[in-house]
Amino acid sequence: MSARPVVTESRLPLPLLRRGKVREVYEVDADHLLLVASDRVSAFDVVMGEAIPRKGAVLTQVSAFWFERLAGVFPSHYVTARTDEILERVPALATLRADIAGRAMLVRRTTPLPFECVVRGYLSGSAWAEYARSGTLAGEPLPPGLRESARLEPPLFSPATKAESGHDENVTFTRMAEALGGELAARLRDASFAVYRAGRDHAASRGIIIADTKFEFGTAADGGLLLIDEVMTPDSSRFWPADRYAEGRSQPSFDKQPLRDYLAGLKGEGRWNGEAPPPPLPDEVVEATSRRYLEAYRLLTGRDLEDAA
Ligand SMILES: Nc1ncnc2c1ncn2[C@@H]1O[C@H](COP(=O)(O)OP(=O)(O)OP(=O)(O)O)[C@@H](O)[C@H]1O
Ligand SMILES: [Mg+2]
Repeated sequence: MSARPVVTESRLPLPLLRRGKVREVYEVDADHLLLVASDRVSAFDVVMGEAIPRKGAVLTQVSAFWFERLAGVFPSHYVTARTDEILERVPALATLRADIAGRAMLVRRTTPLPFECVVRGYLSGSAWAEYARSGTLAGEPLPPGLRESARLEPPLFSPATKAESGHDENVTFTRMAEALGGELAARLRDASFAVYRAGRDHAASRGIIIADTKFEFGTAADGGLLLIDEVMTPDSSRFWPADRYAEGRSQPSFDKQPLRDYLAGLKGEGRWNGEAPPPPLPDEVVEATSRRYLEAYRLLTGRDLEDAA
């Protein structure tokens, strides 16, 4: 088997458009981008110094799984995440198979819309924090008496503005509609619900709760609206193990719990203040986290990561 290096940061001979917390975005040509997921991991909003083996490939292949499976639900930017196809279509990468294997996705380039389309099927994260404080979400009242992690049926559409730095801000549908026009805003909301419901139902049948998730949409050169970015991955969503779910408390994370437990322990002992620089991670924590990502992939897709890409 070929060596599988961890990649903390890809460096490809293509114009780099953006380096995110986890992924690099490269320009392939006027109509295509290459999204490359590194093995970087963040917890409590701090990027760790160690990389998690296979995490980048898991993220990319989970997105690819959904894009292929849900193609009939809404059109997307997805072209391919198969390494052979990418190497064929992007000759500049010919000698760099190991750098991109499994972790790269070729996509149609769009102009992204400036809102994150969040769907919440459970009350958690920033939504729970606001609700606990004031009984509202983005300033609008929710039913009283909800507990942390309560299931929201029907799910809520909870858009956020994309902040270049710092935290995204939850906004109302009305505010999004003022910015984009009511018709486009309604299309985004309906598409987000449709994709989330399809994904949630599949994941539920595999023992994973997708508690909430963030979608992005963009406008293609021909004016068509496409689902872009990553879709229903552990990085863009909260994945919870269904067999551990209980209302009234926070839930373990399917993927990051070994890491979170370790960091919470350090914080509790006053050995880490929760800010960068991160503490070094023991090998066992890195390996346990890697196993969780691989398990999430296997459960969701029904196959091992080696068989993909
Ligand atoms: N098809 C596409 N066309 C144009 N832009 C795209 C497309 N798909 C994804 N993008 C953009 O790629 C960028 C990915 O960078 P981003 O900063 O989100 O990386 P990240 O590693 O996910 O970081 P973070 O964890 O902060 O979200 C996003 O700004 C997204 O809008
Ligand atoms: Mg992102």
